[in-house]
Amino acid sequence: MKLMEEISIGSMELKNRIAYPPITTGFGAINGSYSAEDIEFSAERAKGGAALVFTDAVAPTRDQQTPVSTPLPYFDNDGQIAAYARWVDAVHHNGAKTCIQLNNAGRQTTFDKRGGKSPMAPSAMSSKMVGILPFPDAVEMTETQIEQMILDYVLAASRAQVAGFDAIDIDGGAGYLIQQFMSPLTNRRKDKWGGSLQNRLRFPLEIIRRTREVVGPQYPLLFDLCMDECAEGGIRPEEALETALILEQEGIEAFRIHNYNIETYDRMFPTMATQRGVNVPFGKILKEQLRSAKVMLGQRINDPDLAEQILNEGAADILLLGRPLIADPYFPKKVLLNRSKSIRKCIACNHCVDMLGYARPIRCVINPIVGFEKEYGEVVQSANPKNVLVIGGGVGGMEAAKAAADRGHKVVLCDKSDRLGGHIKIACLTPHKEELENIIDYYEEVLPEAGVDIRLNTEIDIPGVKEMAPDVIIQATGSTVIKPGFIDFDLPTVFTPEEATVSPEIVKGDKVVVIGGGAVGIEVAEMLAMQNKQVTVIEMKNAVIEDLGIFLAVDLHRRMETLGLTINTGATVQSVKSNSVTYIDSSGEQKVLETDAIIVAVGFKPNRDLSEKLKGLSKEFIRIGDCSSPRKILDAVHEGFHAARMLD
Ligand SMILES: Cc1cc2nc3c(=O)[nH]c(=O)nc-3n(C[C@H](O)[C@H](O)[C@H](O)COP(=O)(O)OP(=O)(O)OC[C@H]3O[C@@H](n4cnc5c(N)ncnc54)[C@H](O)[C@@H]3O)c2cc1C
Ligand SMILES: Cc1cc2nc3c(=O)[nH]c(=O)nc-3n(C[C@H](O)[C@H](O)[C@H](O)COP(=O)(O)O)c2cc1C
Ligand code: SF4
Repeated sequence: MKLMEEISIGSMELKNRIAYPPITTGFGAINGSYSAEDIEFSAERAKGGAALVFTDAVAPTRDQQTPVSTPLPYFDNDGQIAAYARWVDAVHHNGAKTCIQLNNAGRQTTFDKRGGKSPMAPSAMSSKMVGILPFPDAVEMTETQIEQMILDYVLAASRAQVAGFDAIDIDGGAGYLIQQFMSPLTNRRKDKWGGSLQNRLRFPLEIIRRTREVVGPQYPLLFDLCMDECAEGGIRPEEALETALILEQEGIEAFRIHNYNIETYDRMFPTMATQRGVNVPFGKILKEQLRSAKVMLGQRINDPDLAEQILNEGAADILLLGRPLIADPYFPKKVLLNRSKSIRKCIACNHCVDMLGYARPIRCVINPIVGFEKEYGEVVQSANPKNVLVIGGGVGGMEAAKAAADRGHKVVLCDKSDRLGGHIKIACLTPHKEELENIIDYYEEVLPEAGVDIRLNTEIDIPGVKEMAPDVIIQATGSTVIKPGFIDFDLPTVFTPEEATVSPEIVKGDKVVVIGGGAVGIEVAEMLAMQNKQVTVIEMKNAVIEDLGIFLAVDLHRRMETLGLTINTGATVQSVKSNSVTYIDSSGEQKVLETDAIIVAVGFKPNRDLSEKLKGLSKEFIRIGDCSSPRKILDAVHEGFHAARMLD
């Protein structure tokens, strides 16, 4: 497999073609350097088999950081070298090469990060992030400030080399300071730092040339290149190619395709609704023209077959697997050992990125170990293996069963249906969510490997449990849709979201009313609108999809506009007849909507009828996931994992 072939970036030899790119973790830098969590997290990505592990964005000085609120790394004094060396050693000890990313945020930051000062940029222009408040107006940098910032880069690079990093990555993408100089959109200067391409490249070229003088001719320098800013007047592929050829002449040995700016940042972290492999066309252009510099690209390469295809198409030399290695750091090793089916594939839900937006560290919906590598990275075998009965094979039950079996417990997993997966089997049927099925595929592969005794078509009742006499019962029976008493669900035009999703053909006619504007309601509405139905959503709250993360919500709002859904918020349904819905709108007026079908998506209630009777039947009884309280995949997976971990 090409993915596993060796390759070099200049003098840096890599054992395969997989790199873990820069990912800000928000684990909380200490005095500008890495916390224990960060070190363990990065070491784990190395241990999983990536050939090259990047740091996240490290600012050359404290006041040049990106807007993420948690304490971020910066490298502005020699006293930090020892701490950075600790990160480098931990990654080296686990078999990977190391690369530091140096990044100055320029205008894309906050007063807070600037210590109360305005952001600085080539031109005095403000910047705003999609769905979030605008950043403060930037101040145009003076010549002296430009010179100082070049020096800051060079000094940080020199410290990084001393700390033992194998390479340096200069962040010229993602709309940060260097890109702000390179882009005609954000650089309106009339002096030698603006105007022609040669002038706009002066800032990165000075950084590269002066860094080269300090680090020597053999030391690999990488560059993040924006090939398409996706904004009018911004960087386009033709000019980016010209730039790449100039930078290659200056000794850049690898380019990491890093498109967009922060105003188009939602595309920087493509969600499950986005096509995979979006950088492939850019990679091809670069690879055709560069002399020897390597091309690195990523974005949603969550599967080894896609990775292999991109390499074989000649679109890249090295693949960047960011979120895919958050979700499963052992992705590379599993490929190497021919166990690709047991890779836990990232579902591109962007919960990890959302966490940074809330000033919290990254967490992964499907990998509960993220951020806790030290505590849970090693599986601790139980000194006292038990018979564990897991009731319910949804995502919570599956994770609990796997984690318990991995620890040496004897696990029986029962589900009343004929396939594992619980609600995910329905969730993956709505538009753009097909990849949720990967979660089920993963457990179907790893549960038998872990030795779990899976019993499908097995509805658990009390006599059944008594017969099994388990030591531990983990109840993971999920939730059921709420059916408000004033709505007659026997009417042939009234359906639950599950019915409408599993059998869309039963929703007849052109007009549909969806009651409930949470994620489940809006996703069903989207599905029906895509079948050319006129869909009206009635939601009691003042906004819809408040239960979705930032990125998924931005995506879905955009699609809702395109599909022309009618949304009535602040509206309360009074009654439902077979062909009409009566409601009070936000101004207090009564309205009647004629309709051909009605979907009622007002939430879920826990399936815990069995709970009280189960409690006395085993030494330990634990309830997890939606049957505790209906929530999300993350809650079910994490609670399942921790239930198993806490067994002695
Ligand atoms: C349409 C839809 C879309 C969704 N989309 C998302 C999303 O995009 N992101 C997200 O994070 N969350 C989403 N959710 C929520 C998410 O699916 C749930 O939070 C999660 O699946 C809960 O997992 P669980 O294991 O607790 O329960 P479930 O998935 O409900 O699984 C419970 C299992 O228990 C079994 N069972 C019940 N009683 C018994 C019994 N007595 N004996 C044996 N087996 C029994 C059931 O057959 C079922 O398989 C969605 C939910 C729905 C309905
Ligand atoms: C939580 C998170 C933080 C990120 N932080 C950085 C960063 O500090 N510097 C950077 O250049 N890219 C950053 N990225 C972008 C990634 O390097 C990568 O380009 C992106 O995640 C797309 O690739 P993927 O689909 O493999 O994750 C971040 C991505 C994520 C998910
Ligand atoms: S949280 Fe979601 S997007 Fe982030 S790594 Fe995990 S699965 Fe992927």
